[in-house]
Amino acid sequence: MGDEIILKTENLGKIYAEGTPMEVHALRGINIEIKRGEMVAIMGPSGCGKTTLLNLIGGIDKPTYGKIIIEGKDISTLTDEEMTEFRLFNIGYIFQLFNLFDFLTALENTVLPLLLTNTSRFEAEEEAKMMLRQMGLGDKLNHLPSELSGGEQQRVAVSRALLMNPAIILGDEPTGDLDEMTSKDIMDLFRSINENFKQTFIVVTHSKYIAEFCDRTIRIIDGQIVDDGYGGK
Ligand SMILES: Nc1ncnc2c1ncn2[C@@H]1O[C@H](COP(=O)(O)OP(=O)(O)OP(=O)(O)O)[C@@H](O)[C@H]1O
Ligand SMILES: [Mg+2]
Repeated sequence: MGDEIILKTENLGKIYAEGTPMEVHALRGINIEIKRGEMVAIMGPSGCGKTTLLNLIGGIDKPTYGKIIIEGKDISTLTDEEMTEFRLFNIGYIFQLFNLFDFLTALENTVLPLLLTNTSRFEAEEEAKMMLRQMGLGDKLNHLPSELSGGEQQRVAVSRALLMNPAIILGDEPTGDLDEMTSKDIMDLFRSINENFKQTFIVVTHSKYIAEFCDRTIRIIDGQIVDDGYGGK
């Protein structure tokens, strides 16, 4: 692992419904530094701000205060359009519920982000097929999500996130709905991708078992970091 800082937050804060009686201080001054190629678990009780943090890092939502610097770039200076492009090329997001389109096949779901680039449809499909084959889904290319198991659906979601070769992969409880065996397979997959391609993983999890696959566990309580140790391996 190099020492290059790929992601840094400075006094990052998020207040929902600011100035109303429903105001929520979801994040209160988060400072983190993550190195390229690190695998980081984020843990903490329900409602502590984990998803909020991922959404800010992934540019899905904007901070109320503070900064997010990714590959040296302060992402708050980007326009919405620039942010969309930045996200497309730099960030892969894997959600708990996989976010696959029910009416699209494994191949079609995987190829989607590449179709937003200049890549030709033929080339995009070839790359998506290659990725799905690597994930052991070569014989399931034309299956709909409803015709796949949970672990297979998750591998489609992982294929889609990886196809753009993003520097950072964010997972919000990516194994939350899977049994322990399948979760282990997914985490082993993350680990081997991480070792082969030096991608940085930030994975929100409620499971100590999953956190142990990571290099480091950041614990959040009530919008603040309470521990930023290097647990696990
Ligand atoms: N769009 C929103 N508007 C208002 N409040 C919100 C919004 N999204 C989240 N919150 C609140 O912000 C706090 C942090 O929510 P967040 O979703 O980040 O928690 P979490 O750590 O991901 O929890 P969980 O483990 O249950 O997924 C919670 O109190 C939540 O109710
Ligand atoms: Mg959450």
